[in-house]
Amino acid sequence: MCGIVGAVAQRDVAEILVEGLRRLEYRGYDSAGIATIDQQNLLVSAKRLGKVQELAQALQDSPLSGGTGIAHTRRATHGAPSEVNAHPHLSSGNIAVVHNGIIENHEALRNLLKGFGYEFVSQTDTEVIAHLVHHELKTGDTLLAAVQKTVQQLEGAYGTVVMDSTDKDRIIVARSGSPLVIGYGLGENFIASDMMALLPVTRKFAFLEEGDVAEVTRFDVNVYDINGDSVEREAKEASVNHDSGDKGEYRHYMLKETYEQPTAIRNTLEGRLTGTELNIETFGNGADDIFKNVEHVQIIACGTSYHSGMVARYWLEELAGISCNIEIASEFRYRKSFVPKNSMIVTLSQSGETADTLAALRLAKEIGYTSSLSICNVPGSSLVRESDLSFMTKAGAEIGVASTKAFTTQLVGLLMMTLAIGKHHSMPLVQQESIAKSLLTLPNKLEEVLALASSIEDLAEDFADKQHALFLGRGDQYPIAMEGALKLKEISYIHAEAYAAGELKHGPLALIDAEMPVIVVAPKNDLIEKLKSNVEEVRARGGLMYVFADVDANFLSDDTMKVINVPHCDDIIAPIVYTLPLQLLSYYVAIIKGTDVDQPRNLAKSVTVE
Ligand code: G6P
Repeated sequence: MCGIVGAVAQRDVAEILVEGLRRLEYRGYDSAGIATIDQQNLLVSAKRLGKVQELAQALQDSPLSGGTGIAHTRRATHGAPSEVNAHPHLSSGNIAVVHNGIIENHEALRNLLKGFGYEFVSQTDTEVIAHLVHHELKTGDTLLAAVQKTVQQLEGAYGTVVMDSTDKDRIIVARSGSPLVIGYGLGENFIASDMMALLPVTRKFAFLEEGDVAEVTRFDVNVYDINGDSVEREAKEASVNHDSGDKGEYRHYMLKETYEQPTAIRNTLEGRLTGTELNIETFGNGADDIFKNVEHVQIIACGTSYHSGMVARYWLEELAGISCNIEIASEFRYRKSFVPKNSMIVTLSQSGETADTLAALRLAKEIGYTSSLSICNVPGSSLVRESDLSFMTKAGAEIGVASTKAFTTQLVGLLMMTLAIGKHHSMPLVQQESIAKSLLTLPNKLEEVLALASSIEDLAEDFADKQHALFLGRGDQYPIAMEGALKLKEISYIHAEAYAAGELKHGPLALIDAEMPVIVVAPKNDLIEKLKSNVEEVRARGGLMYVFADVDANFLSDDTMKVINVPHCDDIIAPIVYTLPLQLLSYYVAIIKGTDVDQPRNLAKSVTVE
């Protein structure tokens, strides 16, 4: 989604801001802009439709000076992508504003401000913020007070940053529903919507809370809560690397992140399993007591994270002996649901900021869920802060829009949660130990699977001219088939659907012909014979299959079927193991189709608006 970067420094900040925008490019955007306050205390700005590089080029031709500045990448909501709609938005020559999110009452405010004589140049909801701040300043308020009064009039979700060229040594930031982080430097301070943007200039960050307004100067950061009271927001050192934003030797972030999975999982396991014993306090203080009392688990997530939750349902019910539901956050938050006694809400999210998931968590707390846990990849994110317990996946920064290592590390977290809950329910010690042992074999197993890349690349050729694809799996591989279909859709734009293989006869068989490739995930588990019957159903109708099969499952390539042998693994980790070949398949198909792998059209990495 949109990205924000801002700075108050003694040196010129335009280059820092543009580099920050570059580091947010992965989130998806259509235009970029910047404003600074120059040596003559004048507001100067530049905007470009298209990539940040266009803006960087414009600044090379006409540089902007000044130590106070804000910059933005916009993804259109109100008003088409255009230079005029790009941020920053200005008022009366001295106020500049950038904004993420949506101002729901912008029409009423626009009419009010027109009545005061303000003229609007864009179709955006953001422009009302610029004029409102300017209007509030007329009463002689400070910039801080004017922004505080402004945000009280805004309805909707926003993260916004305001500066005033007549008061050039400060920027004011306000958060309500859209994340903002303060970055602390020496004699200079920064703000951004994602700390990734600021890693080249600082590693010390404090996250703003909902309703916070902060005044940022070169030497001070003063934060005020929703009531206007001065509050402390603790600054912490970031654990992500500065170079997490680099592709290294890889052609795309998605490929790099796919190959990082063995390391990401090693990091996620580290310190959590001592021998085969799980350190339950890794979920937070008092986790063991909370898990002991849980009688039902409700999982909530969106997109790829939803698929990991689907796998966890199989694990929790079969292994931990506890009932579990899984629901898409945008559905859960808008229906009345029944809350069983002693239920825990578990949210899954790479970013920790997905608007629907956050709203679902807040609703769950209101309607009587006893406890909450977030499995998340971003420390300090909203879901983590607002949950009783959290499990941090240690995947490192994930830049590719299509999620890879965040998904597989989430599955590791979910398996550990299954162990933590299972030990208080029906899971025998010997089974707990066997699951822990399997988890420890996972990184090496994934390295073996990655060695299949070149055969999968060859297979991808067959998909170049296909419009559709069908993915099949059974049991805990059904969600993996769904995740495989989602990956293919997201990055190659081929229409793909997944079915539980047992459902074939209830509809999808009608689609089978030589133009419909059928991808099958076939580990050697207790459903393999059932799956083989489903494969025969496809073969009998002239379908062409691509089977990722356990090396011992006796699938042989022939005219109707291409088999990729996957190294044998324990059943419990098979959903994680079989994810990787499907990620590689979608990647290589996208390469052949020439799509934008890391920033697929119309998609965003982190969806912080509804
Ligand atoms: C977006 C991304 C997906 C992601 C989903 C949920 O749609 O493009 O890759 O799975 O959001 O994001 P989350 O951060 O909550 O896991």
